[in-house]
Amino acid sequence: MNSVVVLLLLAFAAGASAQCPPCKTMKSAICDGDPCTCTLQVGKDEKQTLDCEKLLPKCFLMMAEMQQNRAKAGRFLGKPTEDAIVDNDGIYDPECESTGTFKALQCNNTEECWCVNSAGVRRTDKSDKSLKCDKLVETYWVRLQLKHKEIPNYEMNEEELKTALQTAIKDRYRMPQEIVDSMEMMYDKDARLIVLDLKKEKDDKEKDLSGIAYYMEKDVKQKSLFHGDGKFEPEVGGNKVEMEDILVHYVDAEPPTFTMRRLTGGVIAVIVVVVLAVIAGLLVVYFANKRDKARYQKTHVRELDEMPK
Ligand SMILES: *[C@@H]1O[C@H](CO)[C@@H](O)[C@H](O)[C@H]1NC(C)=O
Repeated sequence: MNSVVVLLLLAFAAGASAQCPPCKTMKSAICDGDPCTCTLQVGKDEKQTLDCEKLLPKCFLMMAEMQQNRAKAGRFLGKPTEDAIVDNDGIYDPECESTGTFKALQCNNTEECWCVNSAGVRRTDKSDKSLKCDKLVETYWVRLQLKHKEIPNYEMNEEELKTALQTAIKDRYRMPQEIVDSMEMMYDKDARLIVLDLKKEKDDKEKDLSGIAYYMEKDVKQKSLFHGDGKFEPEVGGNKVEMEDILVHYVDAEPPTFTMRRLTGGVIAVIVVVVLAVIAGLLVVYFANKRDKARYQKTHVRELDEMPK
């Protein structure tokens, strides 16, 4: 009798969750309830409600990634896949505003803090908790550098490649039309190297370039965040072009302030030069002295030698 009730409840639960469509823009989100709501596990006991019609803010995505890494860390040690790399200064556990924008000050749950731009990338030296970041500086220009895989027996046409990239980026990452139109591309055919510049107005806080870049980075690294098995594969001359080796550069409305470290490096270089100069000077004086003394002794000895004559 009891097991029948449990089975019924299970069937009901399964039915209820099956009614909710998956979250298109985040495959690890869970959608259930009535009305359907999609949520993302961003902390041990913390969930974020999502709007799956849009790309999610990078800050939420990073929180979820950290949470997934933590959950995995207990089970696996070492590299998750062969292409896993250690990003020296990449992911951390971010603090997000309720809207999903990064808080300007980030500490990664430690005593060490730094200021980030709107893409969540560090733009100051690391410091202690008293560090002040007076505002979140906007990243208005993102440069994506990537390579396309080789296409046998096909001569790539630069114009066609650019149009294909524009279409693919617009469709997959819902990129605003103005950014698509102003997108610039540089292309090195021999190296199969593509450089894409995505720019917006410096004071535009609405359009989110970092989100587009993050989704694209994950796509190219074969760790797509989207639900389903679609890929970022622009179509050129009937060929699906796969991408690899992506690198992202962020340019902020105000230059970053890594001054301390550079200054220290410069000062150290100057000190080294001065110390070397002083040592060289001392050596010159020392050897000159020694030579004088030797000459003096020699003449002295010679004089003495000559005496008995
Ligand atoms: C943040 O902390 C985690 C450990 O919790 C560490 O793996 C990661 O490298 C840190 N990130 C930064 C940017 O300091």
